[in-house]
Amino acid sequence: MPSVAAQVPRPLAVVTGASSGIGAEFARRLAADGHDLVLVARSYSRLERLAHELRQSHGIRAEVLAVDLTLPSAVQRIADALGDRLQDVSVLINNAGFGLSGAFSNQSERDLVELMQLNMTTLVQLCRRILPGMLARRTGRILNVSSTAAFQPGPGFAVYCATKSFVLSFSEALAFEVSGTGVTVTCLAPGPVETEFASRATMHESPLFRWGKMSVRQCVDAGYRALQKGKRLKIPGLFNHMLAFGTRLSSRRLTTSLASWMLGGRWRQGSPPSP
Ligand SMILES: NC(=O)c1ccc[n+]([C@@H]2O[C@H](COP(=O)([O-])OP(=O)(O)OC[C@H]3O[C@@H](n4cnc5c(N)ncnc54)[C@H](OP(=O)(O)O)[C@@H]3O)[C@@H](O)[C@H]2O)c1
Repeated sequence: MPSVAAQVPRPLAVVTGASSGIGAEFARRLAADGHDLVLVARSYSRLERLAHELRQSHGIRAEVLAVDLTLPSAVQRIADALGDRLQDVSVLINNAGFGLSGAFSNQSERDLVELMQLNMTTLVQLCRRILPGMLARRTGRILNVSSTAAFQPGPGFAVYCATKSFVLSFSEALAFEVSGTGVTVTCLAPGPVETEFASRATMHESPLFRWGKMSVRQCVDAGYRALQKGKRLKIPGLFNHMLAFGTRLSSRRLTTSLASWMLGGRWRQGSPPSP
């Protein structure tokens, strides 16, 4: 017969991009705090390894959904897998994302569309599907991962930075809309973090990623506290905070030039524009 503890329903958290980096660390925190988890990313084996670790160490339920979130059908797949439980989600961590560096005119249109689909559309769709249940229960926490890239244009990283500005603007507006309902929306805007992100985006040699990285643990410590307190915006680290707010004091042209240098001037490189 199951123990009384096993019969008490645990709050349910959905974490996208849980197979590595920031998402995996959020999953660990939520499991340690007694949440059941739905872990979403493409790599089934990495998700399953994490799920196994968390089931063993915290006695929670952890379910794995291997889904490519750039596909327009992805959110429906998650909704189908969750069924009625979609309305019971207590925490949504919208974290999955990737970056594309280089001159805009050389980037593949298909890659750019996938980047926008993942970083913006899927994130908005998940909020739209999960928020009504939270509002009906008058409780719930959403955390959307943006970036300090949101605070200024990023030559050589143009579309990525624009997607993160979108996430920041959307999240702050949504946080305002739901204030007083018992539901909170937090936007986490990290600077460079030691994950697979920079090498996947071929940004690891840029000045930004050579000098300024923080650990995943530091980033998620700050993000998790902000989530628990229902803060609207968290920029982890004093330096990142100063950089983000410094952009308000200088001209757009100057911040764009500075960002171009910090990102490694990637827009200058490469072959002639693709048609
Ligand atoms: N690291 C940084 O310096 C930094 C700074 C600011 C903001 N961020 C943001 O932080 C978030 C997490 O990134 P990270 O730093 O933890 O990098 P990461 O280690 O590369 O993790 C990215 C996560 O997103 C998942 N993902 C990527 N493409 C996906 C797709 N098509 N479908 C489903 N899942 C997908 C990856 O899993 P699979 O490959 O298994 O699918 C992985 O779990 C991103 O939104 C990123 O923009 C990162």
